[in-house]
Amino acid sequence: MRIAAVVSAPAPAIEYAPPQGSSGTHTISHVVLAIIIVASFVVLSTLMGFAYHLFKRRNSEEDPNHEFEKSASQYMLPAVNSSVTEPQLFTYKQLQFATNNFSPMNIIGHGGFGSVYRGVLPNGRLAAVKQLEWGGKQGIEEFQVEVDMLSRVHSPYLLELIGYCGDQTHKLLVYDYMCNGSLQEHLYSDCTTDDVRPLLGWVTRMRIALDAARGLEYLHELINPPIIHRDFKCSNILLNDKFNGKLSDFGLAKIGSDKVNGEVSTRVLGTHGYVAPEYVMTGHLTTKSDVYSFGVVLLELLTGRTPVDMKRPPGEGVLVSWALPRLTDREKLVEMVDPTLDGQYSMKELIQVAAIAAMCVQPEADYRPLMTDVVQSLVPLVKQRTNSKTSRHPSHHSQ
Ligand SMILES: Nc1ncnc2c1ncn2[C@@H]1O[C@H](COP(=O)(O)OP(=O)(O)OP(=O)(O)O)[C@@H](O)[C@H]1O
Ligand SMILES: [Mg+2]
Repeated sequence: MRIAAVVSAPAPAIEYAPPQGSSGTHTISHVVLAIIIVASFVVLSTLMGFAYHLFKRRNSEEDPNHEFEKSASQYMLPAVNSSVTEPQLFTYKQLQFATNNFSPMNIIGHGGFGSVYRGVLPNGRLAAVKQLEWGGKQGIEEFQVEVDMLSRVHSPYLLELIGYCGDQTHKLLVYDYMCNGSLQEHLYSDCTTDDVRPLLGWVTRMRIALDAARGLEYLHELINPPIIHRDFKCSNILLNDKFNGKLSDFGLAKIGSDKVNGEVSTRVLGTHGYVAPEYVMTGHLTTKSDVYSFGVVLLELLTGRTPVDMKRPPGEGVLVSWALPRLTDREKLVEMVDPTLDGQYSMKELIQVAAIAAMCVQPEADYRPLMTDVVQSLVPLVKQRTNSKTSRHPSHHSQ
């Protein structure tokens, strides 16, 4: 299924032993010996440090995309935010109570890892409780790495893990509840239900794009070593009450195994329509694979079309193939924009967003931008509008 992670016990904390008081019986030879040992240690550490520095520099020169080959156990605390919030431990009973005994009425979604329930925690906080449906060793390992990793990475652009339940038979993850669900639910009207939501306006779409870009920027460039999301898509961008976007499922996505019952699951390729072509063809995964997926989401925001829709006329079924040649053609560009966005954007804005999307989905991974570059390009687009209006409300009238 997904690439297996090796989970090792966290490195033991370095213990500091305070020096003993002097007995006054040291001889000069003892002092000299101590000086020699300390001096050798200092020289040796300096040499090792220098060698490590050279090794790191060589590696980063050879591998600008930070190819992902590291196990989850190598993940470190982020460089930008070293405060570690321990996830809370919940009993199964507490979560049973929180979700009204996992009532079908509380189900808010279902994904590859199981059902997601809306729940109220003992302290009154709303939460999304994800119940892992698999059994066996692999599921447990993935669950453990998810908990381990989400406890270490913290950003306003990533979904917060409140806690978990990991008793003998139940594996549940408890996340911050995002009352506006996923971006997917707000981009496409569902004709099969009565739930007709106002589709998102231009400004809200750009803000969510920027939040999501910042989430990926954090994973790729602000922590070391980087994390590749692998399953970046509209349903993994969740929206809170203010329509702030937060990335979810990056822990599970990254550490999933590609060896389930000896078979390769479709999940190893992420989600159909979002996966970078080089990853499909070679299995070679870099942060640029996520950049491609980001480009697909940006195209969805721009066009209101799903990544794959084979019910469309020939040549229009795969969003990237249909959109790419149009992104650089001024007339065709206007025609491809989601008609519900009419009158909400300027030509200049449209061209800028189209240029970002085109760069992200280009077939040559090396030429795709870094997420930092994407963030820098999106900031002015959002800033200009924020200066005039501050609301994030999704309706057209708020633009
Ligand atoms: N923290 C949350 N707050 C509110 N709703 C959530 C939360 N997490 C998930 N959901 C809802 O549950 C749905 C299913 O989520 P889940 O992550 O299990 O699957 P998915 O993202 O649709 O697919 P995949 O398993 O391929 O990632 C989401 O689309 C979203 O609507
Ligand atoms: Mg998800």
